[in-house]
Amino acid sequence: MQFDKNKNVFVHRWYPFVEGYSKEFIEDILNELPFAPTCALEPFCGSGTTPVELQNHGIKCYSFEVSPFMHLLSTVKLGRKYNVETFAHYVKAVTNKLSRTSRNIRKIETLPFGDTIVKREYSRKWNFHDTAIDGILDIRHAIRTIIDDDDYKNLFTIALASIIVQASNMFRNGKCLSYKKGWETRIFNRKEIHNFFLDKLNSIFAEDIRIISQENPTVHNSEICYLGDVRKSIQHVPDGEIDLIITSPPYLNSRDYTDIYMLELKVLQLINSHEELRALRKNTLRSHVQVSYERITPIDNGRLKACLSEMSNNTSKTWNSDIINMICAYFEDMQFLFSAFSKKMRKGGVIYFNVANSAYYGVEVPVDYIIADIAESCGFRVREIRKARDLKTSPQQSDKIGKLRESVIVIDY
Ligand SMILES: C[S@@+](CC[C@H](N)C(=O)[O-])C[C@H]1O[C@@H](n2cnc3c(N)ncnc32)[C@H](O)[C@@H]1O
Repeated sequence: MQFDKNKNVFVHRWYPFVEGYSKEFIEDILNELPFAPTCALEPFCGSGTTPVELQNHGIKCYSFEVSPFMHLLSTVKLGRKYNVETFAHYVKAVTNKLSRTSRNIRKIETLPFGDTIVKREYSRKWNFHDTAIDGILDIRHAIRTIIDDDDYKNLFTIALASIIVQASNMFRNGKCLSYKKGWETRIFNRKEIHNFFLDKLNSIFAEDIRIISQENPTVHNSEICYLGDVRKSIQHVPDGEIDLIITSPPYLNSRDYTDIYMLELKVLQLINSHEELRALRKNTLRSHVQVSYERITPIDNGRLKACLSEMSNNTSKTWNSDIINMICAYFEDMQFLFSAFSKKMRKGGVIYFNVANSAYYGVEVPVDYIIADIAESCGFRVREIRKARDLKTSPQQSDKIGKLRESVIVIDY
C-alpha cells in the first residue's frame, strides 16, 4: 500500500509523499468492486493519490485537503492542462533568468517567516545555509516574475517544492524534521540549488508533460478538490450521490502534518505568521496535541471506554491529559464524519477506510474496531477489517505492546 511504490510512477513521482498510499491500492479496489463507481469522495486528499487515480479511470471524485501545500500539490497533479511547447518555453525562460540572478535577492524576495530559517547571531541550528536559501529565493523569484500563467506557475512551484528538503539542512524523520548528519559543513552554493530544480524539470517533469499533452481526461477532479477542513466543507458534496469513499485519515499517532511539511509551507509563502500556523493546526483532524482542545466527553463506545479506564489505571508521572483529550476528540471527529458520510452516500456504496491502531500508557487503542463500531452506529455495515501490515510501536510503548495493526475497514452502505 505504501507511497514508496509511487516514486517512479507518472505524475505521482513529482513529489514524494511518505504518508500516502500506492496507486495499486486504488486499482485493486476498483478491480474488486462488483459495480462501476460513478462518483467518489476522498475526505483526506493528501498528495491526491485517490482523485488522481480515479481521474485516470474516468471516475469523478470530490476531495478535501486542509493543508494549502498538499492542496496545491493535488490540484497541480490533477490539472493536466499542460502541453510540451508551453512547458519548454517556460523552462527556457526560467533557465535564462536563473543564469542572471540578483546579487542581493533578499531585497526583492522576503525570507520565509520564523527564527530558525537562516543563521542569526545567536543561533545554534538553522534550516538553510545562506547560499541554499538564496538559491531557492532566486527560483521563487523567477517563477513569480517570468511565468504569467497560473497553471504553469503552480506546476513549477511543485518542482521547487520537490527540492526544498534536499536543499535544506533537514530530513523528514517520522513525526518531525531532524538535522542531517554533517549538515554544518555540507553547504550547497546557489548554482547547485538552481541545478537541483532545473534537473527535476528537465527529467521527470518534462517526461510526464509529454504524456499529459497527449491525454484528454473525461473528468476534471481538480475542480472539485477543495481547500479546507472537511468537517466544515463536506457540505459541498451533494446528498446521496457518492458510491465510493477511499481514504486514509491522519492516524491517532500525535503526528502533525503541519510540522512535517513546515519547510514547504513557509518557503512557498503558504504560511506567513504564527497566527496562520495556529489557524491551520486548529482546522486539522484532532490527531495530535499541537493545539489544545476544550475538554471532550468520550463518545458512547465500550471499547474506547475500556481503553481509557485501563490507561487511567496505568497512571504515571508522564500522564498528560492532553493525550486523553486528543483520543476522545479523534473519535468524536470520526463519529461526525461517518454521520456526514451516511448523508452523502447512496445505498449500495462502499467505503475503504485505511487506519492504524495506536498505543498510549501501555494500552493498545483498537482504532479499527472502534471506527467499525462508529460506522455501524451510523447505519453502515462493516463487511471486513483487512489487515494491511504491522507497524512498529513508539520506543516508549514497545516493551508493553508488540506491533500495531494497520488495516483497511471495508464498509457497505
Ligand atoms: C494520511 S494523509 C492522506 C494521504 C493520501 N491518501 C495520499 O495518498 O496522499 C492525511 C491528510 O489529511 C489531511 N487533513 C488533516 N486534517 C484534515 C481536515 N480536517 N480536513 C481535510 N484534510 C485534513 C492532512 O493534511 C493529510 O494531508
